[in-house]
Amino acid sequence: MPEADSSGEVKNFYLDIPAQTTGQFYLKGSGALDWGMQNRLSRVFRPATGHTVMLAIDHGYFQGPTTGLERVDVNILSLVPYADALMCTRGILRSTVPSSSATPVVLRASGGPSILKELSHEEIAIDIDDALRLNVCALAVQVFIGGEFETQTVHNMTRLVDLGLRYGMPVMAVTAVGKEMARDARYLRMACRICAELGAQFVKTYYVAEGFETVTASCPVPIVMAGGKKLPELDALTMAYRAMQEGAAGVDMGRNIFQSDSPTGMIQAVSKVVHEGMKPAEAYDLYRTS
Ligand code: R5P
Repeated sequence: MPEADSSGEVKNFYLDIPAQTTGQFYLKGSGALDWGMQNRLSRVFRPATGHTVMLAIDHGYFQGPTTGLERVDVNILSLVPYADALMCTRGILRSTVPSSSATPVVLRASGGPSILKELSHEEIAIDIDDALRLNVCALAVQVFIGGEFETQTVHNMTRLVDLGLRYGMPVMAVTAVGKEMARDARYLRMACRICAELGAQFVKTYYVAEGFETVTASCPVPIVMAGGKKLPELDALTMAYRAMQEGAAGVDMGRNIFQSDSPTGMIQAVSKVVHEGMKPAEAYDLYRTS
């Protein structure tokens, strides 16, 4: 039994201060989510800015040791503290990332075909129990709208969304654009909206110079910009800046960070762009001098 409260005379119920209640949440379209899911999202998206810089290093799940990721222990671990979240596979997480890492993890949850096969033929590649065991903050699943196995990949996503809702685990849908598809705002609007309509808590998609603001505006949940193939650093920073100005909630970049001449400088520059709205030229100077 607890001891009796002996300080009854000095209780203060702040009768003149309205109670602060939960129910409001700073991320687009996320106000009706459960506490645990909001808590996980708030580890990925900085509450102070509502934005995120995710470092994507999951490429090995379909293409093996990608340039820059040959040795994650040597080349990547030192970058992880600069990221708001690390996007990786459970294999790299368990084998190479220290469990003492404070950076939240977004876990690759789909896979199957290698780069040698039809990439849209993916299946769910993890059990939700393992994601919970690994204490990750979100799951990432590829969705190939218009791809050969479109329905299968949408179903992978909806299965994960159902599991995620059961356990408070957000799902990030990654809109994969096949080689034969036009990467334009019209396509991305459709792909992102389908993912959000079917339950993804946030969506990763590519930047397009024309009409990206219509992609973010018509998607009811946060969008993070995918990095894509390596660009000159100033171009990559400009792309990130424009995406943020046009409504993205963050970026999820891989090659444009770890294939840079100065990955540490680049991730810090990207972070300034994303969280502080730093202009590309200034961020580029920061990259060069870091
Ligand atoms: C893309 O489909 C995968 O999620 C990648 O392995 C990765 O996240 C891509 O990152 P980036 O294009 O920025 O190198």
